[in-house]
Amino acid sequence: MNLILLGPPGAGKGTQAKKMVEKLGIPQISTGDILRAAVKEGTAMGIEAKKYMDAGKLVPDEVVIGIIRDRIKEADCAKGFILDGFPRTVAQAEALDEMLKGMGQDIDHVISIEVPDSALLERLTGRRMCSCGASYHIMFNKPKQEGICDLCGGKLYHRDDDKEEAITERLVNYHRQTAPLIDFYTKKGKVRPIPGTGSVDDIFAAIMDAVEG
Ligand code: AP5
Ligand code: MG
Repeated sequence: MNLILLGPPGAGKGTQAKKMVEKLGIPQISTGDILRAAVKEGTAMGIEAKKYMDAGKLVPDEVVIGIIRDRIKEADCAKGFILDGFPRTVAQAEALDEMLKGMGQDIDHVISIEVPDSALLERLTGRRMCSCGASYHIMFNKPKQEGICDLCGGKLYHRDDDKEEAITERLVNYHRQTAPLIDFYTKKGKVRPIPGTGSVDDIFAAIMDAVEG
């Protein structure tokens, strides 16, 4: 099953993707996580991407399209994948369509997680991340031990782009560049709207109903 998780910054894409991986046995592909790993490694792509990410802007299409083109061909994607944070522009969505067509595949569902902007700022300023990709919240989703990842024991950190100024820019860019994808995929009959407020488990149950029902 090939799935896309669509939603504004802080909607819970990463949080839900982790649970879906466990349940569905297909990998999460987060362009944000892949880019942050490149930043950490100090690769040429990471150095270039960091300028955009810290400012809350999208990394150029050709960079992320190249990442996805290679990633979805890997062996662990044979039974499908969960795209988290890709596509984010119409050009990316069109490129993805072409790639999948070439592989004789298609997208099955686009899970559109809906959260009002008013809730997102609090979620992002209170988020704490682990380099394994897990994300926590200082109020809403506390790790068992403060500052330590439940899953891998790693030290939690605050993302560089989870500062108020960058968050505001990310939201503006989401509405301008990414929200039009809801229309793009609605026309293809792929969108499954999921209210993204409430408990993580209830939202997860709604997602599972949408993809399995
Ligand atoms: P990316 O890492 O994808 O960031 P994002 O889309 O801004 O989304 P987030 O990861 O911030 O939020 P999320 O929806 O995963 O929420 P989470 O589950 O963590 O991208 C970062 C940057 O990389 C981009 O700005 C761009 O520069 C670049 N980039 C990436 N992909 C790109 C692309 N395709 N094209 C171009 N550039 C690209 O949850 C958030 C918080 O809320 C957590 O603290 C969590 O614990 C909490 N939470 C989750 N669910 C709930 C709930 N139900 N109730 C209360 N709190 C909750
Ligand atoms: Mg995320």
